[in-house]
Amino acid sequence: MFEKAEELKKLFSERIKELNEASEAEKLRIEFLGKKGFVSGLMQELRNVPNEDKKEAGQKINEIKQYIENSLAEKMNDLKAFEEQRQIDLAESYDETMPVMTDLGSYHPITLVRREVENIFLSMGFTVEDYSEITDDYNCFEALNIPKFHPARDMQDTYYLSSNQLLKTHTSAAQNTILRKYKNSLENGNPIRAIFPGRCFRNEKIDPSHENTFFQMEGIMVDKNISISNLIYFMKTMLSEVFQKDVTVRLRPGFFPFVEPGFELDIQCLICSGEGCPSCKNSGWLELCPCGMIHPNVLSAAGINSDEYIGFAFGLGLTRLAMMKYGVKDIRLFNSGNIKSLSQFTDKSFTRPE
Ligand code: PHE
Repeated sequence: MFEKAEELKKLFSERIKELNEASEAEKLRIEFLGKKGFVSGLMQELRNVPNEDKKEAGQKINEIKQYIENSLAEKMNDLKAFEEQRQIDLAESYDETMPVMTDLGSYHPITLVRREVENIFLSMGFTVEDYSEITDDYNCFEALNIPKFHPARDMQDTYYLSSNQLLKTHTSAAQNTILRKYKNSLENGNPIRAIFPGRCFRNEKIDPSHENTFFQMEGIMVDKNISISNLIYFMKTMLSEVFQKDVTVRLRPGFFPFVEPGFELDIQCLICSGEGCPSCKNSGWLELCPCGMIHPNVLSAAGINSDEYIGFAFGLGLTRLAMMKYGVKDIRLFNSGNIKSLSQFTDKSFTRPE
């Protein structure tokens, strides 16, 4: 019995030396101290020990039990300390200059077109302005010469919020705020030149060419002697840059309460150069951008003297422009979240910023 006890102790000492995982320690404990473990086995043998040696044998078993428990506890502490040190070493050895091995993400096609148009307007002295997606009736309609109950409100089926606010139906909703922001600079002889891209919402039935969430880019210019030719010049320059060729544009009359006169700006079909093809429904032209000369009431609402100043505004459909530029046939792709389809438009020369 005593010999067996010594052997067991030796066996345990060897086994615990090999242990290097906390999860293994529990297994070892069960193997030695469990109900059917080695120590229990030894206890059973106590029966066969002569009475006079029983006490000593019992003590021996207890001593082994104690030894195993202490050793396991000690080992667990060592393993814990070792793991903590390993984590510290790992953290210290982290090198943030190591190249990332995953695939690069890609920009959304609308982001690509937006940035491209922004850069063109920036180079022509425009500022890029931000505006919230939630606004109110005043900014979205009233300040734009669309009073309550005006039939023009039916042109834009609006999502109203319970807070008496609404989701902006067009980027024109920012006109009043931006005109106010820069009206002082007019008096110092600096024209207002601003673009404001943004997400717009209308309660549309969704199909391949209609979305309830889409992007526009509004542009305004206000000064003393602005005319329709200025408007045509800026639009033509921008579109020629975007499509990388000299585009032909035309204006047709269009009605929007916040411009007078108002126009629809068409661009000559880039596929058939005006000959007529399925893409332009044989008309030779594609409707691209509503625009016009800012209505005097809109300038007055922003505190600008409409006898002295005049301006133009346009509402470029960024989503539509992206569809034309990338030949996307179904508008639903943009909000689909389909990364595989959306990533194909990324400019491959894009590199991760340093
Ligand atoms: N805000 C108008 C729309 O979304 C477009 C527009 C903008 C028209 C600027 C004229 C001038 O329908």
